Amino acid sequence: MLEHAIGFLSSDSAERDPAGAGPILEMSSARIRAAVAEFIGAFPDVQPFYATKCNPDPGVLRLLGEAGCSFEIASTAELHMLADLGVRPSDMIFSNPVRAREQTRIAAQAGVHRFAVDSTEELRRTASVAPACDVSVRVATAPGDSLVPSEGKFGVGVDDAVRLCKEAVELGLHLHGLTFHMGSQTLTPETLARPMDDVREVMTRIASDGLRVDLLDIGGGFPARYSEHIPPLADFGRVFARKRQELPYEVEVVAEPGRCLVANAGTFRCRVIGVAERHGVRWAHTDLGVFNGMMEALESGGDLRYPLGDSRGSASRELFNVTGPTCDSQDTFATGVPLSADLREGDEIQVGSAGAYTATYSTRFHGFPAPRVVII
Ligand SMILES: Cc1ncc(COP(=O)(O)O)c(C=O)c1O
Repeated sequence: MLEHAIGFLSSDSAERDPAGAGPILEMSSARIRAAVAEFIGAFPDVQPFYATKCNPDPGVLRLLGEAGCSFEIASTAELHMLADLGVRPSDMIFSNPVRAREQTRIAAQAGVHRFAVDSTEELRRTASVAPACDVSVRVATAPGDSLVPSEGKFGVGVDDAVRLCKEAVELGLHLHGLTFHMGSQTLTPETLARPMDDVREVMTRIASDGLRVDLLDIGGGFPARYSEHIPPLADFGRVFARKRQELPYEVEVVAEPGRCLVANAGTFRCRVIGVAERHGVRWAHTDLGVFNGMMEALESGGDLRYPLGDSRGSASRELFNVTGPTCDSQDTFATGVPLSADLREGDEIQVGSAGAYTATYSTRFHGFPAPRVVII
């Protein structure tokens, strides 16, 4: 019995269990290319290192590489995935500021030379396993105007950043740069100003000790379009360009965009497995849910409003809650969405802006399948 259960969970479920074919995530190659071109237009002279975790599908990674991206990684698994696609480790930045010792060692042996740090302990650990590497000190950013805050965990204030820069040199490491990350889906371009001020202060203060950095990594966090208006990337580019001029000297600049390069290229195609009415509220149950792709709907408390449509396309609309296939009440990823009033089993629901932090965030909860990623 147990063997059967494990077999079911680990095999290609569509083959063994045709009832569980699962949702498809369609990724538009044209939109990925257009997004990279928009980023490069908004940030001339800034090399994008795509945040691999955002959507690590090999087809997506290949397209991004062809469009001119290098890659940001946070694990050796991502390093191996990219190396298998022919990406050179020297074109990767390892930006996770606290790494298991062996992750740093393996990455450095493979040829990755740029690592982020934000503590004395990590500096020492890095120096012990990768003594010849380049380190960038991660500066904290304030909890800003981002819909999916990812700050608060990493980064240090200006005083500590200055201290870590000196310690890096004392430990014999190459002090390479400063880095920060605003928090994902940042909606206000001026959010970039404060970490740029902090970076300027660190650069100025270490200069009085005869230290310089070669690199500024402005991280990711640039927004993608969901249901609401977002400022154009060019507005972020303008804030950055203004603040760059205030730096005490010129440095190479890189960024780590994820969401803004792939979110709008993705559309989930999922199947209505049943509709129900409960206490006057209509529910659409689909084979896509929070646990196999829509985790960020939960994480953002519903603030990420994915655009939804359905294949029936009836003029008469009614409001639906849309929920996944599990028994878990957290599985609902949209509420009060207008869909065809006569929506029924077998119809398709399309979820737009779904290319970032979706398929990769999928679990096998209940054994329901992960989405299949298809490049179109
Ligand atoms: C260090 C770092 N860089 C880049 C990113 C990518 O962010 P985003 O997908 O919002 O651009 C993240 C994700 O949160 C991150 O933690």
